Amino acid sequence: METIQFIHSGWAYIVLIVLVIATFNALIKFFGNKEFDAKDFRISLFTLITMHIQLLFGIILWFTKGYFDEMSVGEVMKNDAVRKLAVEHPATMLIAVALVTIGYSKHKKKLVSKPKFKVLAIFYTIALALVLYMIPWNQWF
Ligand code: HEM
Ligand code: HEM
Repeated sequence: METIQFIHSGWAYIVLIVLVIATFNALIKFFGNKEFDAKDFRISLFTLITMHIQLLFGIILWFTKGYFDEMSVGEVMKNDAVRKLAVEHPATMLIAVALVTIGYSKHKKKLVSKPKFKVLAIFYTIALALVLYMIPWNQWF
Protein backbone atom coordinates (compact mmCIF):
# COMPACT_ATOMS: atom_id res chain seq x y z
CA MET A 1 0.00 0.00 0.00
CA GLU A 2 2.87 2.36 0.86
CA THR A 3 4.56 1.36 -2.37
CA ILE A 4 1.61 2.01 -4.67
CA GLN A 5 1.00 5.42 -3.07
CA PHE A 6 4.68 6.24 -3.56
CA ILE A 7 4.41 5.26 -7.24
CA HIS A 8 1.14 7.16 -7.82
CA SER A 9 2.62 10.18 -6.06
CA GLY A 10 5.86 10.10 -8.05
CA TRP A 11 4.20 9.38 -11.39
CA ALA A 12 2.04 12.48 -10.82
CA TYR A 13 5.13 14.67 -11.49
CA ILE A 14 5.51 13.08 -14.92
CA VAL A 15 1.77 13.44 -15.61
CA LEU A 16 1.88 17.12 -14.71
CA ILE A 17 4.97 17.85 -16.80
CA VAL A 18 3.84 16.08 -19.98
CA LEU A 19 0.28 17.38 -19.71
CA VAL A 20 1.52 20.96 -19.35
CA ILE A 21 3.88 20.52 -22.32
CA ALA A 22 1.21 18.89 -24.55
CA THR A 23 -1.40 21.50 -23.65
CA PHE A 24 0.81 24.54 -24.28
CA ASN A 25 2.24 22.92 -27.40
CA ALA A 26 -1.29 22.55 -28.81
CA LEU A 27 -2.37 26.06 -27.75
CA ILE A 28 0.72 27.80 -29.10
CA LYS A 29 0.68 25.93 -32.41
CA PHE A 30 -3.08 26.36 -32.84
CA PHE A 31 -2.84 30.13 -32.45
CA GLY A 32 0.42 30.22 -34.41
CA ASN A 33 -1.11 28.29 -37.36
CA LYS A 34 1.70 25.74 -37.33
CA GLU A 35 1.93 22.48 -39.24
CA PHE A 36 1.12 19.33 -37.25
CA ASP A 37 4.16 17.06 -37.39
CA ALA A 38 5.37 13.75 -35.94
CA LYS A 39 6.68 15.44 -32.81
CA ASP A 40 3.24 16.86 -32.04
CA PHE A 41 1.71 13.41 -32.44
CA ARG A 42 4.28 11.88 -30.10
CA ILE A 43 3.69 14.48 -27.40
CA SER A 44 -0.08 13.92 -27.44
CA LEU A 45 0.30 10.11 -27.45
CA PHE A 46 2.91 10.18 -24.68
CA THR A 47 0.53 12.27 -22.58
CA LEU A 48 -2.30 9.81 -23.17
CA ILE A 49 -0.16 6.84 -22.14
CA THR A 50 1.19 8.66 -19.07
CA MET A 51 -2.37 9.50 -18.00
CA HIS A 52 -3.57 5.92 -18.54
CA ILE A 53 -0.74 4.51 -16.45
CA GLN A 54 -1.61 7.00 -13.68
CA LEU A 55 -5.24 5.91 -13.96
CA LEU A 56 -4.21 2.29 -13.47
CA PHE A 57 -2.04 3.17 -10.43
CA GLY A 58 -4.87 5.29 -9.06
CA ILE A 59 -7.44 2.50 -9.31
CA ILE A 60 -5.08 0.05 -7.59
CA LEU A 61 -4.34 2.62 -4.86
CA TRP A 62 -8.04 3.26 -4.36
CA PHE A 63 -8.74 -0.45 -3.82
CA THR A 64 -5.76 -0.99 -1.51
CA LYS A 65 -6.89 1.97 0.60
CA GLY A 66 -10.30 0.34 1.06
CA TYR A 67 -11.94 3.56 2.19
CA PHE A 68 -15.32 1.90 2.49
CA ASP A 69 -14.12 -1.10 4.51
CA GLU A 70 -14.22 0.72 7.83
CA MET A 71 -16.57 3.59 7.03
CA SER A 72 -20.06 3.59 5.60
CA VAL A 73 -20.82 5.64 2.48
CA GLY A 74 -22.53 8.21 4.68
CA GLU A 75 -19.53 8.51 6.99
CA VAL A 76 -17.12 8.95 4.08
CA MET A 77 -19.36 11.62 2.55
CA LYS A 78 -19.65 13.57 5.79
CA ASN A 79 -15.88 13.64 6.33
CA ASP A 80 -14.45 16.40 4.10
CA ALA A 81 -10.86 15.12 4.12
CA VAL A 82 -11.74 11.49 3.40
CA ARG A 83 -14.41 12.35 0.83
CA LYS A 84 -11.89 14.45 -1.09
CA LEU A 85 -9.41 11.57 -1.42
CA ALA A 86 -11.84 8.67 -1.66
CA VAL A 87 -14.44 10.23 -3.96
CA GLU A 88 -13.74 13.69 -5.37
CA HIS A 89 -10.12 13.13 -6.44
CA PRO A 90 -10.79 9.80 -8.23
CA ALA A 91 -14.02 11.04 -9.87
CA THR A 92 -12.50 14.28 -11.15
CA MET A 93 -9.29 12.63 -12.34
CA LEU A 94 -11.34 9.97 -14.09
CA ILE A 95 -13.05 12.76 -16.05
CA ALA A 96 -9.64 14.34 -16.81
CA VAL A 97 -8.30 11.03 -18.16
CA ALA A 98 -11.46 10.57 -20.23
CA LEU A 99 -11.08 14.08 -21.70
CA VAL A 100 -7.47 13.39 -22.71
CA THR A 101 -8.53 10.06 -24.25
CA ILE A 102 -11.41 11.67 -26.19
CA GLY A 103 -9.22 14.59 -27.28
CA TYR A 104 -6.47 12.26 -28.43
CA SER A 105 -8.94 10.02 -30.25
CA LYS A 106 -10.69 12.95 -31.97
CA HIS A 107 -7.46 14.65 -33.04
CA LYS A 108 -6.32 11.46 -34.71
CA LYS A 109 -9.36 11.49 -36.98
CA LYS A 110 -8.78 15.07 -38.17
CA LEU A 111 -6.74 15.39 -41.32
CA VAL A 112 -5.70 19.05 -41.18
CA SER A 113 -3.26 20.72 -38.77
CA LYS A 114 -5.51 23.49 -37.44
CA PRO A 115 -8.43 21.24 -36.34
CA LYS A 116 -5.97 18.75 -34.84
CA PHE A 117 -4.41 21.41 -32.62
CA LYS A 118 -7.85 22.82 -31.84
CA VAL A 119 -9.22 19.52 -30.50
CA LEU A 120 -6.08 18.87 -28.48
CA ALA A 121 -6.02 22.43 -27.13
CA ILE A 122 -9.63 22.27 -25.94
CA PHE A 123 -9.61 18.79 -24.36
CA TYR A 124 -6.12 18.90 -22.88
CA THR A 125 -6.64 22.38 -21.41
CA ILE A 126 -9.81 21.33 -19.58
CA ALA A 127 -8.09 18.13 -18.42
CA LEU A 128 -5.10 20.13 -17.15
CA ALA A 129 -7.41 22.49 -15.25
CA LEU A 130 -9.15 19.56 -13.56
CA VAL A 131 -5.83 17.91 -12.67
CA LEU A 132 -4.44 21.15 -11.20
CA TYR A 133 -7.64 21.63 -9.26
CA MET A 134 -7.77 18.09 -7.85
CA ILE A 135 -4.15 17.33 -6.97
CA PRO A 136 -4.04 17.08 -3.15
CA TRP A 137 -1.32 19.77 -2.99
CA ASN A 138 -1.24 19.86 0.82
CA GLN A 139 -0.07 16.24 1.08
CA TRP A 140 1.98 16.08 -2.12
CA PHE A 141 5.40 17.69 -2.92
C1 HEM B 1 -7.39 1.21 -16.06
C2 HEM B 1 -6.61 1.20 -17.06
C3 HEM B 1 -6.93 1.69 -18.46
C4 HEM B 1 -8.12 2.02 -19.07
C5 HEM B 1 -9.52 1.98 -18.48
C6 HEM B 1 -7.81 2.42 -20.44
C7 HEM B 1 -8.76 2.80 -21.39
C8 HEM B 1 -8.50 3.12 -22.70
C9 HEM B 1 -9.47 3.47 -23.72
C10 HEM B 1 -10.97 3.53 -23.51
C11 HEM B 1 -8.81 3.70 -24.87
C12 HEM B 1 -9.43 4.03 -26.21
C13 HEM B 1 -9.15 5.24 -26.86
C14 HEM B 1 -9.66 5.31 -28.29
O1 HEM B 1 -10.86 5.51 -28.48
O2 HEM B 1 -8.86 5.19 -29.21
C15 HEM B 1 -7.40 3.51 -24.61
C16 HEM B 1 -6.38 3.69 -25.51
C17 HEM B 1 -5.04 3.57 -25.22
N1 HEM B 1 -4.46 3.23 -24.03
FE1 HEM B 1 -5.44 2.85 -22.32
N2 HEM B 1 -6.45 2.36 -20.62
C18 HEM B 1 -5.86 1.90 -19.44
C19 HEM B 1 -4.54 1.70 -19.18
C20 HEM B 1 -3.52 1.91 -20.09
C21 HEM B 1 -2.12 1.67 -19.83
C22 HEM B 1 -1.57 1.11 -18.54
C23 HEM B 1 -1.45 2.01 -20.98
C24 HEM B 1 0.03 1.98 -21.31
C25 HEM B 1 0.96 1.32 -20.70
C26 HEM B 1 -2.42 2.47 -21.95
C27 HEM B 1 -2.15 2.89 -23.23
C28 HEM B 1 -3.09 3.20 -24.19
C29 HEM B 1 -2.79 3.54 -25.56
C30 HEM B 1 -1.39 3.60 -26.14
C31 HEM B 1 -4.02 3.77 -26.21
C32 HEM B 1 -4.34 4.17 -27.60
C33 HEM B 1 -3.58 4.62 -28.57
C34 HEM B 1 -4.13 4.95 -29.91
O3 HEM B 1 -5.35 4.96 -30.12
O4 HEM B 1 -3.30 5.25 -30.76
N3 HEM B 1 -3.67 2.40 -21.37
N4 HEM B 1 -7.23 3.15 -23.27
C1 HEM C 1 -4.55 11.30 -13.78
C2 HEM C 1 -4.24 12.19 -12.94
C3 HEM C 1 -3.97 11.97 -11.48
C4 HEM C 1 -3.04 12.68 -10.80
C5 HEM C 1 -2.13 13.76 -11.36
C6 HEM C 1 -3.06 12.22 -9.43
C7 HEM C 1 -2.25 12.70 -8.43
C8 HEM C 1 -2.30 12.33 -7.10
C9 HEM C 1 -1.44 12.85 -6.07
C10 HEM C 1 -0.33 13.85 -6.27
C11 HEM C 1 -1.80 12.25 -4.91
C12 HEM C 1 -1.16 12.47 -3.55
C13 HEM C 1 -0.20 11.39 -3.26
C14 HEM C 1 0.57 11.59 -1.98
O1 HEM C 1 0.03 11.28 -0.92
O2 HEM C 1 1.71 12.06 -2.05
C15 HEM C 1 -2.90 11.36 -5.21
C16 HEM C 1 -3.58 10.59 -4.29
C17 HEM C 1 -4.56 9.66 -4.60
N1 HEM C 1 -5.02 9.34 -5.86
FE1 HEM C 1 -4.52 10.27 -7.55
N2 HEM C 1 -4.00 11.23 -9.31
C18 HEM C 1 -4.59 11.04 -10.53
C19 HEM C 1 -5.60 10.14 -10.82
C20 HEM C 1 -6.18 9.26 -9.92
C21 HEM C 1 -7.22 8.32 -10.24
C22 HEM C 1 -7.84 8.13 -11.62
C23 HEM C 1 -7.51 7.65 -9.09
C24 HEM C 1 -8.49 6.55 -8.82
C25 HEM C 1 -9.34 6.05 -9.64
C26 HEM C 1 -6.67 8.17 -8.05
C27 HEM C 1 -6.67 7.76 -6.73
C28 HEM C 1 -5.97 8.34 -5.73
C29 HEM C 1 -6.14 8.02 -4.34
C30 HEM C 1 -7.09 6.95 -3.77
C31 HEM C 1 -5.27 8.85 -3.62
C32 HEM C 1 -5.15 8.98 -2.14
C33 HEM C 1 -4.48 8.60 -1.25
C34 HEM C 1 -4.71 8.90 0.21
O3 HEM C 1 -5.70 8.41 0.80
O4 HEM C 1 -3.89 9.65 0.75
N3 HEM C 1 -5.87 9.15 -8.59
N4 HEM C 1 -3.17 11.42 -6.55
